[in-house]
Amino acid sequence: MSEFESPAPELGPGRAPDGPAGDEVIVNIDVNGERVRRLCSASRTLLDFLREDLRLTGSKHGCDVGDCGACTVLVDGVPRLSCITLAVEVEGAVRTIEGCGPAEAPIIAAFDTHVASQCGYCTPGIILCLSHLYTETPCPDDTAIRRALGSNICRCTGYTKILAAARQVAAANGATHTDEPE
Ligand code: FES
Ligand code: FES
Repeated sequence: MSEFESPAPELGPGRAPDGPAGDEVIVNIDVNGERVRRLCSASRTLLDFLREDLRLTGSKHGCDVGDCGACTVLVDGVPRLSCITLAVEVEGAVRTIEGCGPAEAPIIAAFDTHVASQCGYCTPGIILCLSHLYTETPCPDDTAIRRALGSNICRCTGYTKILAAARQVAAANGATHTDEPE
């Protein structure tokens, strides 16, 4: 049994021996390279499914209404706000901050260099959004960086250090633009 695989569900009132009960549905998705198959409420958000069912707490509750980006994960490589996504509606492969690998290592190193993470609440979502950005555009200019992070709110850094870290990765990828530091 894999780390994320459910034990056999307990049978209870209203539950057929071979299926879910009430509003429960079977969520069957790939999370960080592991196949996950679990029963959960049809109304369970992907964020709660990740944090509470799978104990992957890197994705954060911020606003819970799709405004802050703290809950961002990648679905098939594309940023998705997990607080306004139902677990059952996800069909692609999910990647959370816990699933980061070599592609994100330069971003994390740049965040360390520039101290771009303070309380850290926004950081997982921002790193995943930047990962998507560099996959699509290895050498983004400031406009592209700002656009990529347009849905991510940080209450600590004033964004200056985040932009500096993002520029460092772009430069390491070969960017030659000369945006002035903030
Ligand atoms: S918690 Fe999802 S966008 Fe704020
Ligand atoms: S580092 Fe605290 S919200 Fe961004």
